[in-house]
Amino acid sequence: MRNIIGIKEMSKKEIIEILDTAKKLDCMNENKRRKLMDGKIITSIFFEPSTRTRLSFTSAAYKLGCHVLGFDNPNMSSVVKGESLRDTIIMVSAYSDVIVMRHYIDGAAKFAEEVTSLPIINAGDGANEHPSQTLLDLYTIREELGNIENKKIAFIGDLKYGRTVHSLSNALKMFNGEFYFIAPESIQIPNHILKELDKAKIKYHLLDDYKNILKDIDCLYMTRIQRERFDNINEYEKVKHAFRISKKDIEGKCNENMIIMHPLPRVDEINIDLDNAKYAKYFIQAKNGVPIRMAMLSLASGIIKSNAKKKKTDYQIIENKNIVCQNKKCVTHFEETKNKAIKKDYGNFCYYCNKEIK
Ligand code: CP
Repeated sequence: MRNIIGIKEMSKKEIIEILDTAKKLDCMNENKRRKLMDGKIITSIFFEPSTRTRLSFTSAAYKLGCHVLGFDNPNMSSVVKGESLRDTIIMVSAYSDVIVMRHYIDGAAKFAEEVTSLPIINAGDGANEHPSQTLLDLYTIREELGNIENKKIAFIGDLKYGRTVHSLSNALKMFNGEFYFIAPESIQIPNHILKELDKAKIKYHLLDDYKNILKDIDCLYMTRIQRERFDNINEYEKVKHAFRISKKDIEGKCNENMIIMHPLPRVDEINIDLDNAKYAKYFIQAKNGVPIRMAMLSLASGIIKSNAKKKKTDYQIIENKNIVCQNKKCVTHFEETKNKAIKKDYGNFCYYCNKEIK
């Protein structure tokens, strides 16, 4: 394992290896653990705001003995002078051993992988993928529900722009299960995700309310309506209060073992009166980011050797000058990229941002 760009590129064995490594590192003697990556340097570059991802990667790095450099405000870097992402990545590659990057542009991590030989970890790229969040989500499901197989999961909220939902549904399809996508029509789950689920023969339901399925599900995965990703603020205003759950909506109405997860931050979609309920696992989930990110750093850097079988490529990459991604937020419109697409039997998809190319 070297780069961790998207869940779609990982095998089930690689995912399990990360979860198992996280568990081992979490239980390891602190002094021994601090020697694992002693003296290594992690560059953490965040072009978009973050609390959990950035701080838990930093905490994970310190616990492994690494030094951390980077920026969390691109306005204080040479980006404001017009430096391209390509040049920024080339430069930070000269100063460190592993790069952790969050960017607001879809496909930025896939592009970064092409311009450096250093391991790249995607800490979220636009509305595309958020693999480290997915891994900590899976870790939380395994810790709280005993295993990940055959779970019934309801995703609620902003499923169009929610990269955590995109990555998590891509991962969960390897563990079977049944999914409920619950959102207003304008922010429902993108078609390209559903096509992947169809291919994997995963059962799913598209709904606009959760009340009738509460008794059936193992996990309610709530998400924030992401104001910052809407092109049209009026569209955001129409859906901003689509779902707000509180104790009275859940207690006595759900499966008693159900868990509530949320990648956080929340706005008003989960009332604080649920925070102490036995179902609420979102703060534990965020805390699980530290062992998961320790595992990611040590496996990506090669400090811990990966023995997991890689994913077999089930698609063909095509390259020609006529390939143009229609997603205006794709990295292909901001950087000098190649004209590449992934050809699958159910359509062609942008090599960088994964959106369908018509
Ligand atoms: N879940 C998550 O990515 O949170 P941050 O944006 O605070 O990193």
